[in-house]
Amino acid sequence: MSRLLITGGTGYLGSVLVRQSAALGYNVVATYFTQAPPTLAGVTWLPLDVRDPHAVAATLASTRPDRVIHTAFQQSGPDLLSITAHGAGHVAAAAARVQARLIHLSSDVIFDGEAQRAYTEDDPPAPISAYGHAKAQAEALVAAAHPSAVSVRTSLIYGFAPPDRISRFTLDVASGKIVAQLFTDEYRCPIYVEDLAAALLELSSTNYQGILNIAGADRVSRYQLGTLIARAWGQDPSSIPAGLSASQSPPRPRNCTLNIARAQALLSTPLRGIHAVLRDHGRLLDGG
Ligand SMILES: NC(=O)c1ccc[n+]([C@@H]2O[C@H](COP(=O)([O-])OP(=O)(O)OC[C@H]3O[C@@H](n4cnc5c(N)ncnc54)[C@H](OP(=O)(O)O)[C@@H]3O)[C@@H](O)[C@H]2O)c1
Repeated sequence: MSRLLITGGTGYLGSVLVRQSAALGYNVVATYFTQAPPTLAGVTWLPLDVRDPHAVAATLASTRPDRVIHTAFQQSGPDLLSITAHGAGHVAAAAARVQARLIHLSSDVIFDGEAQRAYTEDDPPAPISAYGHAKAQAEALVAAAHPSAVSVRTSLIYGFAPPDRISRFTLDVASGKIVAQLFTDEYRCPIYVEDLAAALLELSSTNYQGILNIAGADRVSRYQLGTLIARAWGQDPSSIPAGLSASQSPPRPRNCTLNIARAQALLSTPLRGIHAVLRDHGRLLDGG
């Protein structure tokens, strides 16, 4: 069976990738940074700081994976570039050296969100946030160091067990614990973490190279997403305040809708929209 290395194995997506790949019988090596990893049959855990190119190279040279899925990142803070951009470059260089297939996780916020249509793989990055700039730089470094790698542009990742960051935030807004507005004019294509992990594993078995959009099939506003999540968790969404992203400073990308036709043609894993996922889990409740 294939030897798979997953960076950020303690993260939200990484932990599902680790669980799914171990259950499928992969020989899994997963890395962690600050969190103590769980004990799982068939999984070897290694500490790794992707800012250190020598440590990254040594980890890949000693474990000799056939495939690498690079999820480790940070979204903000003083180490944003060294972890999210340069770290991706170090992983790409090390994966190329041991001739491992590489799947790198990128984001839909590499766009400015001004297009009046869904973004395709041919659209060049045009970031307007520090995080978007870091991911755009990561994509470029990955492509330069490992030309046959894939950078997967994905959207908000959600799940139920445990709930993701956005769901926890939404539930705190709905209960009044956090005061915030959810935007009616900011669009994303949220993807269920189990669907994304399965799609990434399937993608790792293909020869696809370059950029690939993998997101959920439904385009929803942040506000619509919030009401769906609140209802799904049995909370009343009517207390969620609606707001306009257009009035925010600094500006935020408003339309990060991803066209997923290429991934749907390439992969057999269904990329369900949030309505279908909630329906399949008995969580699409009245008004959804
Ligand atoms: N979450 C979303 O909605 C979303 C949307 C679009 C794209 N993405 C992309 O999807 C990927 C996974 O996101 P996620 O939300 O699942 O991430 P996450 O839960 O925040 O996990 C981040 C992971 O990165 C590891 N990490 C942080 N700094 C590190 C370092 N210096 N060296 C090595 N590992 C380090 C963390 O390890 P420890 O926990 O052990 O410290 C953790 O395992 C990311 O690349 C992200 O850009 C996510």
